[in-house]
Amino acid sequence: MSKKLFIETLGCAMNSRDTEHMIAELSEKENYEVIDNFENADLILINTCSVRERPVHKLFSELGGFNKKKKPDAKIGVCGCTASHLGDEIIKRAPYVSFVLGARNVSKITEVLHKDKAVEIDINYDESEFAFKDFRTSKYKAYINISIGCDKACTFCIVPKTRGDEVSIPDALIVQEAQRAVNSGAKEVFLLGQNVNNYGRRFSGEHEKVNFTELLRRLSKIEGLERIRFTSPHPFHMDDEFIEEFAKNPKICKSMHMPLQSGSSKVLKDMKRGYTKEWFLNRVQKLRSMVPDVHISTDIIVAFPGESDEDFQETLDVMKRVRFDQIFSFKYSPRPQTEAEAFTNIVDEDVASARLTELQNLHTQIIDEKNAKLLGNVYTVYFEDLLHDYYVSGRSDNNIIIKVKGSDELLGEFRDVKITSIGRTILTGEVIG
Ligand code: SAH
Ligand code: F3S
Repeated sequence: MSKKLFIETLGCAMNSRDTEHMIAELSEKENYEVIDNFENADLILINTCSVRERPVHKLFSELGGFNKKKKPDAKIGVCGCTASHLGDEIIKRAPYVSFVLGARNVSKITEVLHKDKAVEIDINYDESEFAFKDFRTSKYKAYINISIGCDKACTFCIVPKTRGDEVSIPDALIVQEAQRAVNSGAKEVFLLGQNVNNYGRRFSGEHEKVNFTELLRRLSKIEGLERIRFTSPHPFHMDDEFIEEFAKNPKICKSMHMPLQSGSSKVLKDMKRGYTKEWFLNRVQKLRSMVPDVHISTDIIVAFPGESDEDFQETLDVMKRVRFDQIFSFKYSPRPQTEAEAFTNIVDEDVASARLTELQNLHTQIIDEKNAKLLGNVYTVYFEDLLHDYYVSGRSDNNIIIKVKGSDELLGEFRDVKITSIGRTILTGEVIG
């Protein structure tokens, strides 16, 4: 009989891919199957995020809850970025945890399973040539890692300390993985890395020079692969060659994540982001001039240490000029082992909250105005999810989420859809062809 696995995934798309990989390893080698209630599980895994402080606090209360209600002999494992940065402290604070497995070590899941109190958190461990397994939570879209780690040193960010140095995965492995995904029915791939457009800077072994633009060209030759998405590109590496390939390659979806972080060149310098407000706006302009309906999303941090009112106004100014289609916005959260942790010019909590609210309100207004103009437009939608009430949802090439009445026959299919009603996060339409 199979053993039962409960796995909770927090954080970014790379964590989701790591989760898929661990599920594949555990089911192939240890006969586990995934269930969705932890009370009946033989193994409980939490794949954690440590980018902001709050999820880290929540971890220990959650672990306590698992421990109280789990089956008596069930194991609990903590994986991901918080595992990397807290290491054996997790077992000290929660002695019932069986093992700790860092974000850079997920390929060792079946090893740690059989060692009591194992702590595997080597951030230099090389997983770049490790064939990530083909288990996928979606049949229609394949998440594929193209690099691991991050070589940047953004002063607020803990990721380089939890995922280690950046190493690119050999392009042949990526192309093979994409081909296998296509063979099993996926028409879309989603390439993942902390800095995708820095791809090719370092491989772990001998490798010909291939940059991200070239990788995109190679992937787009795969027959049957219709759509290529990726996250996250870094604004610093958005050179003309990359933007031109993005614009002219029909398989590359016209949606770009451009993590701004701040609109103030002074704050960007303190963050060590490597670009200025002017460079960012220049890249947006180049992109929009070549792809007028490109969908641009961003990440913004408010109240970074030393952010003055004027600096914050610069962020609002970029918001008004770019009119992002989607934002992920956060209050700055000091993280251990980062440079900014030592910065003393902290912004008051109430100022930080007020700035976040102002930013988000401005964005809501922008998005309502933008969405109102979409009524009656026609998009080619790739359907991926069955919703309740006989709706099926998918995305346009430029990443607009659209639902229509329909059944699972639409899943994995492309259809032309006319927008009939507008919502803030999802639009409704009808299939017209
Ligand atoms: N490499 C990715 C970033 C990964 S972290 C990129 O460049 O897009 C995801 C997002 O979390 C960041 O873009 C940033 O906006 C936010 N973030 C990271 N560290 C943070 C911190 N200390 N406080 C608040 N937000 C943070
Ligand atoms: Fe973090 Fe900056 Fe890398 S935000 S993941 S250090 S690009």
